[in-house]
Amino acid sequence: MKKTAVVFVTALLGTIVGCASTTTVAMRGGDVTSADKAPELKEYGQKTPGIGKQKLITRTFLTQPPLVPHSIEKYVPITFDDNACLECHISDDLNGKKMPKMGVSHFSNTKQEKDGSPAVEMSRYQCDSCHVPQADAKPLVENQFVGVTK
Ligand code: HEC
Ligand code: HEC
Repeated sequence: MKKTAVVFVTALLGTIVGCASTTTVAMRGGDVTSADKAPELKEYGQKTPGIGKQKLITRTFLTQPPLVPHSIEKYVPITFDDNACLECHISDDLNGKKMPKMGVSHFSNTKQEKDGSPAVEMSRYQCDSCHVPQADAKPLVENQFVGVTK
């Protein structure tokens, strides 16, 4: 009985030592046990809407929500009582200034505002769940992807 236990412990130690001496090479490089470094923060466009005219990043597929080419800090969070995005994007004109108006898909087919204009579709109310500020982010891996809208 005692002999069996000794053999078992020796075998176990052998396995542990064996494991420790084998180094596993991770695909991402470096040691698997070391913590990953957080990626660097991307530079987002910090331009005020309409100022500086930041270049739009081309949409890559037809139903893609366009990226926001201006800063949004002042307009978030969007709350039930306050949606600043709508002030500019509800129409194509804000006090004589040209604005990109939200597409027809953003308006209700059935509900109307008091003045008879179509109401905003509530599934489109939380603008920043689909539209994010644009950053000049390089692809993570080399690839040959080509957008379909070019
Ligand atoms: C003060 C007015 C104003 C406010 C508020 C505003 N925008 Fe804009 N937005 C603009 C203007 C003007 C442009 C055209 C590009 C430019 O000049 O920056 C634009 C461009 C955009 C575009 C690109 C449209 C396209 O055709 O590609 C998106 C998307 C957008 N805004 C979303 C938002 C969202 C989401 C918010 C709220 C978080 C918001 N905007 C708040 C004025 C505004
Ligand atoms: C569920 C996702 C979603 C939400 C939420 C959303 N959008 Fe969009 N948006 C889109 C898509 C997709 C497009 C491009 C196709 C289209 O017009 O439907 C678009 C297009 C736009 C455009 C460009 C219109 C054009 O003619 O090219 C503007 C401006 C815009 N959205 C503003 C807003 C604002 C402001 C809000 C919040 C009130 C908002 N969107 C909420 C998905 C969304």
